[in-house]
Amino acid sequence: MFSARQIVAQASRRSFSASARQASKVTVLGAAGGIGQPLSLLLKLNPRVSQLALYDIRLAPGVAADIGHINTKSEVRGYEATPSALAEALKGSDIVLIPAGVPRKPGMTRDDLFNTNASIVRDLAKAAADHAPEANILIISNPVNSTVPITAEIFKSKGVYNPKRLFGVTTLDVVRASRFISQLRNTDPANENITVVGGHSGATIVPLLSQSGFNLSGDQLAEYVRRVQFGGDEVVQAKDGAGSATLSMAMAGARFAESLLKAAQGQKNVIEPTFVDSPLYKDAGCEYFASNVELGPNGVEKIHPVGKITEYEQKLLDVCLADLSKNIQKGVDWVKANP
Ligand code: NAD
Ligand code: LMR
Repeated sequence: MFSARQIVAQASRRSFSASARQASKVTVLGAAGGIGQPLSLLLKLNPRVSQLALYDIRLAPGVAADIGHINTKSEVRGYEATPSALAEALKGSDIVLIPAGVPRKPGMTRDDLFNTNASIVRDLAKAAADHAPEANILIISNPVNSTVPITAEIFKSKGVYNPKRLFGVTTLDVVRASRFISQLRNTDPANENITVVGGHSGATIVPLLSQSGFNLSGDQLAEYVRRVQFGGDEVVQAKDGAGSATLSMAMAGARFAESLLKAAQGQKNVIEPTFVDSPLYKDAGCEYFASNVELGPNGVEKIHPVGKITEYEQKLLDVCLADLSKNIQKGVDWVKANP
């Protein structure tokens, strides 16, 4: 028989080891930006996060001081823009979210951001490969279709590439897809889960409405697909030169990070759409492709195939693959020429 004192000691040891197992350091690179600030705020509210490291080329210590007053347990630290501070922010990280880079203005495509953001992402990927080679790397900076391949090439060149741990964040596309269908059909968007595959820009975003049981057709279907593909433009135009989606993106990024943490902490059947190194369309020149992915303690657990689609969706997918393969190749070629 155990004494009451032994039972209490055992229970507190158990709760200590459970919380130790669940300790998670999350790093945000670009933490003072339009996405970075609300994303960091949402991460501070997440009890699964034990350490939050905020890095930016400006203002990160200020953002960290502010968020650090919130009365949740996680420790928050902001880092100055020096190589050693960046290394410190990355060391021991389980998840590195990268929203560093410039956003669009009206009239621009995501690809127009390539020239500026490619080198930002390349340099941060180098630091991540050096100081957090085993972390899950979540790329938010656009154009995601090219910045993910750039990151992969950097990790490959340093001999630390793990395809199971690199993710292009496309969560916002499914968030929009569920919100927009609920607006059309007057349903609760929280219950809508629309599969979206492909990439993250214009025609490379392919919503598969037929798999959700909704039966739109004609102009209504075309308009729905167009809205999901160009939802980002709605925000860019409404912000009128002041940037692109930040708040909805912060929610989407926080959701994806939360899913990874749940999976890392042993939860089963955690499925998120994400742009990963994927076998599905390599034959069509797409080394990376977004589809539903089951997450586990090692990152990617299982990549779900696209499944049954209509003739209309197949045409969308054909257009997607043609564009996406070029976006991917552009990233690979650029980083080889600009290592
Ligand atoms: P922003 O300009 O408000 O913030 C970007 C931040 O990055 C700034 O604080 C800046 O100082 C920082 N930064 C720049 N270079 C850096 C570097 N080398 N190291 C660290 N930090 C650096 O822009 P935003 O609205 O937050 O958007 C950021 C990126 O996210 C853009 O490229 C945008 O297109 C993209 N985005 C992606 C999605 C998606 O679904 N994946 C959604 C929305 C926006
Ligand atoms: C989005 O989808 O909102 C982002 O990719 C930002 C943009 O440029 O539209």
